[in-house]
Amino acid sequence: MTTHTGLDAREALAERLVDATTHALETLSVHLGLELGLYQALADLGAATEAEVAAHAGVAPRYAREWLEQQAAAGYLACDDPARPPEQRRYRLPTGHAEVLLDADSPDYAAPVAATFAGVARVLPQLLEAYRSGGGVPYAAYGQELRRGIAALNRPMFLHELASTWLPAVPGLDRRLRSAPPARVLDLGCGLGASSIALARAYPRAQVLGVDLDQASIAEARARAAEAGVADRVTFVVGDAARVTAEAPVDLVTLFEALHDLGDPVGALRAARGLLADDGSVLVADERVADAFTTPGEPIERFMYGWSVLHCLPATLAEHPVEATGTVLRAPTVARWAAAAGFTGFEVLSIDNPFWRFYRLHG
Ligand SMILES: C[S@@+](CC[C@H](N)C(=O)[O-])C[C@H]1O[C@@H](n2cnc3c(N)ncnc32)[C@H](O)[C@@H]1O
Repeated sequence: MTTHTGLDAREALAERLVDATTHALETLSVHLGLELGLYQALADLGAATEAEVAAHAGVAPRYAREWLEQQAAAGYLACDDPARPPEQRRYRLPTGHAEVLLDADSPDYAAPVAATFAGVARVLPQLLEAYRSGGGVPYAAYGQELRRGIAALNRPMFLHELASTWLPAVPGLDRRLRSAPPARVLDLGCGLGASSIALARAYPRAQVLGVDLDQASIAEARARAAEAGVADRVTFVVGDAARVTAEAPVDLVTLFEALHDLGDPVGALRAARGLLADDGSVLVADERVADAFTTPGEPIERFMYGWSVLHCLPATLAEHPVEATGTVLRAPTVARWAAAAGFTGFEVLSIDNPFWRFYRLHG
């Protein structure tokens, strides 16, 4: 009986590993499709043959055939006539898939998760070395795949939820952001600045300073602010959040999915508090994980732990940190950090979001 159960467990785990690898391989194939413009070709052409897709995207025909077959087998694409010879088959994006794969403004735009995964794939040898030495893997080493992937994944939330839902949840903030003299906002760990830019667009008086340790992110953030026509009110600087300086008083400090990444989170919160206006707030959005570690983990915990072991923890360890929490930042830890930084007010805001929890720090 024991042996039988053991066998079932072995089979189940072996099957699970093969299944998981299938999904991982498919995720990287999505990355290929996005980077090479293969999905875009199908969006432009409608139902198309392998030769049409290859010509439109500028890829070698033999690769186009294999990728199209693989995508159709996986259900990412539809094939209208699979029984015909390969060169006569027509492939297309099923209804709804273009939004998920190509519509950068859509709340359902999930495609960039494939790029973030590709960013991790880039550093696997460095990760092995870091695990042995206890060192880190710098954020920059994960490349543009991770940097742009994160920004693209989070951007739709900033477009659709930041000004309509999140900021109005902080008492008095919406009114302050609309009034004179212009409100000052500090966006710590701003990445490519999508949150800073969305805030400036929603509040035409507000002045925003975005700060991030990653030089490439700040360079792209500046370009994006100029493109969006808000560079006169949105400034970006490279710097450590724990050593931030800004013109005070600041009405709002934001940290969107960044607090858990900082090498000195309490230092950053303390610096933010030192710049805040008397009635100012810090708004933290971080991962929607449970208050305590349990096993087995819910899907969101597994997702966040996956990022933690492969990215967030090694990237923070590269900062020679005071704390290295990893991705799984739980509410009691945020409360402890807030108190250590001197805040007397701490609230978990009731904002509905599948990935993030929202905290208001004040006082
Ligand atoms: C998960 S990303 C989130 C970026 C952005 N807020 C967004 O939502 O797209 C975390 C960011 O924190 C930044 N970061 C890490 N350590 C930092 C530090 N000590 N000071 C400032 N930024 C830091 C990283 O460079 C990265 O851009």
